[in-house]
Amino acid sequence: MTEQFKGSPWNCDSIDQWNQPGYWSDYYRDLLADRQDPIRRKLVVWRDCDRLIYTLSRIGKLPVRDGKDEIRFLDAGCGISALPYVLKAWGFHVVALDTCEQAIQISAKQNPSDEELAQCIRNWEPSRDYRGSYTLIDDPKKSLESLQNLKGVGGSVSFIHADWLDRSACTGPFDFIYCRNSLRRSKKPYWRDSIRRFYEMLAPRGLLILETVNALDLMNEVHDLLREIGFVSLEKHLTRDEDHKYVDAYWPTG
Ligand SMILES: C[S@@+](CC[C@H](N)C(=O)[O-])C[C@H]1O[C@@H](n2cnc3c(N)ncnc32)[C@H](O)[C@@H]1O
Repeated sequence: MTEQFKGSPWNCDSIDQWNQPGYWSDYYRDLLADRQDPIRRKLVVWRDCDRLIYTLSRIGKLPVRDGKDEIRFLDAGCGISALPYVLKAWGFHVVALDTCEQAIQISAKQNPSDEELAQCIRNWEPSRDYRGSYTLIDDPKKSLESLQNLKGVGGSVSFIHADWLDRSACTGPFDFIYCRNSLRRSKKPYWRDSIRRFYEMLAPRGLLILETVNALDLMNEVHDLLREIGFVSLEKHLTRDEDHKYVDAYWPTG
């Protein structure tokens, strides 16, 4: 019997197709069809990168200080989000990888302008009504300014149609691996194999940024897997050394 997550099935019932390209080509085709809700489409393509900005800034990697050191970034399971282009604009050398060929074809054609990319940058302002809370402000001009303030030189992006488990197609090493929701409803053995691959592909001091939405039920067991494989939590070690590989895992809900 396949090893299962113990968490309740509400959030974490695995689906067999989650890591299958066919499931995602249907999903992206439907999402891009005219009849689909444009707000939903916008949220998927122009993914917000608040938390990525926070993580990279607090370890001193954003803004990229000079283009001489190539910082290699893997977007593992990039889907059709514009994030690889945002990372390129910031000066990173990005490999955007997905097993779904259609996703790679769609993404490789995007080539968005700065104005379009600015949709990935959200503006938060201190709320007038509730002290200590923040309100989301729709201000495209401000978003563009924030994007441009973080601009780096010499970034690049390449799109690869491949499975991260395939050692011949996806090698590394990478300084950063970002995996956003690409494992969310995978089975536990798949999580373990994938986390192990990410560990292998990271350079010494490398950081896995793992963002998984609405999957709190898996959190503790995934943290156990991360420890079992050797990852050190960034939370406790903001200064990274060459002897370890790090993880920043977060579990937003909404
Ligand atoms: C929920 S989507 C997330 C897409 C993107 N990261 C985002 O946040 O919008 C999951 C993506 O992971 C890809 N994926 C799943 N397993 C994969 C694997 N083993 N190798 C490469 N891509 C994979 C799927 O094809 C799909 O496009």
